[in-house]
Amino acid sequence: MLRRTALASLSAGFAALAAGPLRAQAYPSKPITIVVPFAAGGPTDLMARIVGERMAKELGQQFIIDNTTGAAGTIAVGKVARAAPDGYTIGIGHLGTHVANGSIYKTLNYDMLADLVPVARLPSNPMLVVTSNPFEAKTMKDVVEYLKANPDKISGGTAGVGSASHLGALAFFNATGAKYQLVPYRGTGPAMQDLIANQIQIMVDQSSNSLPQVRAGKIRAYAVTAKVRSPVMPEIPTAAEAGYPMDVAIWHGLWAPKGTPPEIIAKLNAAAIATFQDPDIRRRMEDLGQDLPTPAEMAPAAFGAFHKAEFAKWKKILEDANVKAE
Ligand code: MLT
Repeated sequence: MLRRTALASLSAGFAALAAGPLRAQAYPSKPITIVVPFAAGGPTDLMARIVGERMAKELGQQFIIDNTTGAAGTIAVGKVARAAPDGYTIGIGHLGTHVANGSIYKTLNYDMLADLVPVARLPSNPMLVVTSNPFEAKTMKDVVEYLKANPDKISGGTAGVGSASHLGALAFFNATGAKYQLVPYRGTGPAMQDLIANQIQIMVDQSSNSLPQVRAGKIRAYAVTAKVRSPVMPEIPTAAEAGYPMDVAIWHGLWAPKGTPPEIIAKLNAAAIATFQDPDIRRRMEDLGQDLPTPAEMAPAAFGAFHKAEFAKWKKILEDANVKAE
């Protein structure tokens, strides 16, 4: 009896072992969903659509964009963490959703590092300090002096507590000593529409979202939150040049639920790497101020190590700043 049971469990084990690579060979056999933590039209949604479209070509399956908004992205991240680990649900996020929120929200129903596995690191972009056109200021210094003379008179958009645009606002407050009212949106796509309409007057926003509007003359840019000016927007000074050093870059990444087979992660990673080897996509990203990671930096293990290091770095910054979810 024992022999038969042992044989049965042995064959089951071999079957499971064989199933992995076979399953990966068949993958993907249906469309893949990318859960996007913010509304359509913002920088995270844009990255998801560019990546999804090109990965679909690589893998021969459609990518479905699922904008699951709310609570600065924590609802979307939880949805991915609880999804079936079969490679058909992945999540996109960034420094805010997959790092800052882990420190700011004390009642998350998932563990940022334990319940997700890294798929690929994606490009990173600096932020721009931008205002609506009617805002009368010529320089970053003028903006800061106006805000200090008119505390809380103007409002600025974020995508919620812990979002990238919230982190950008905190960095701006910290660097300048000036403040503005924070108005949360479901993403900086909708926030940008209100900035153009002067419903809000300021934002610290990812260059990929703001730069096209600056170039179209719909909003004004005063500074870039980087140590040196960007070659694609050399006319925009760094915040440091105005006397307010800010160094904030928002990187994006792809994650999958814990338990997703490594062979499937490898297929997704290879498709993501191929996406940013495409010359047209590279040009489009660079033109939006994005810095592209190397294939080595995009690898799951390297991205996982980077994610953990960012988590530790920002945990201290946010705890020291006593940043809490409302
Ligand atoms: C943010 O965190 O500000 C988001 O990236 C905004 C967005 O992507 O809509």
